[in-house]
Amino acid sequence: MQPITDNLLDWYDSHHRILPWRISPREQQAGVAVDPYRVWLSEIMLQQTTVEAVKPYFRAFVEKWPTVQHLAAASQDDVLRAWAGLGYYSRARNLKKCADIVCADHGGHFPTDINGLKSLPGIGDYTAAAIGSIAFNIPIAVVDGNIERVISRLYTINTPLPAAKPEIRCRMQALTPEQRPGDFAQAMMDLGATICTPKRPTCFVCPLNGDCAALRMSDPERFPVKAPKKERPIRLGAAFVAVSGDDEILLRTRNEIGLLGGMAEVPTTGWTARQDGEIDIAGAPFAANWTAAGNVTHVFTHFELRLAVFRARDVPPPEDFEGWWVKIEKLSAEALPTVMKKAIAAAIPDAFARRGKDE
Ligand code: ADE
Repeated sequence: MQPITDNLLDWYDSHHRILPWRISPREQQAGVAVDPYRVWLSEIMLQQTTVEAVKPYFRAFVEKWPTVQHLAAASQDDVLRAWAGLGYYSRARNLKKCADIVCADHGGHFPTDINGLKSLPGIGDYTAAAIGSIAFNIPIAVVDGNIERVISRLYTINTPLPAAKPEIRCRMQALTPEQRPGDFAQAMMDLGATICTPKRPTCFVCPLNGDCAALRMSDPERFPVKAPKKERPIRLGAAFVAVSGDDEILLRTRNEIGLLGGMAEVPTTGWTARQDGEIDIAGAPFAANWTAAGNVTHVFTHFELRLAVFRARDVPPPEDFEGWWVKIEKLSAEALPTVMKKAIAAAIPDAFARRGKDE
């Protein structure tokens, strides 16, 4: 094994993070088996979300659905509700589809090879490599953002991201051992998250400080080199919070296809990049006594959304409206994405602080 790999695994044995989905090296030695279901679930949740944000969701999911069979037996609505707040909701729909396929076509067992894993919904190159190495000991390079940073510093990779990705993958593959490839990948992730941080890395405690080319030139923060960022476009829209005389809010389901598909929302206009769309009261879903209740901003990956929020009180049930009323104190049980929670909170500031007596 190469010195870098060896040093890092030694460091991991004593310094690894304790995470709810992780089997520590000591537990593995004591014979605790890695559960591919938990590895898969955590990796899907960790796509585009931080470790801290994922922890409570992961615990809640495995308590509610301890096996892939339990998850396959759940309804999509229940899964979306439990996912609400984690963002990128297509991941939740793919999660459910994947559980269904694993149970229907693979006897409840995840495929044990990279191509088999990649054939499943929601599993791309990165996630297949992470599951393959952690759950099935496949010595394949796992490369996430933390690992890109560590590798580009170790080898002072001057090509900017994303063009540097093939070179980084190649370097990571060369370091990945036949034994313990999953621990090695997770050790690189932990190093990137705790020591080799984007700003002010603590190189003096790094187990790889004798091997790091960026430290040798005294400038680790210069890496990874990034191509200049494109500005995020701004889109505009309006959201309508209708409140009944019984303190209920009117919700509806978003189209299955597209951003936040299948999630709950208060009625909104389309989200247009243009100023001349129906992005104000003219876009109200029905006539009511709408008044302005402020503005909210939400940043999605590819655009920033600015919503003007309108509120109407004592709204009678509108005709021809596909949706449902929900008591304000029961809102937390709905599959509301964060942007919708922000819009509701703009109209009713204490909406999510209210709790029913039975909750
Ligand atoms: N990020 C993505 N996968 C991870 C894992 N298995 N451990 C820690 N952070 C991660």
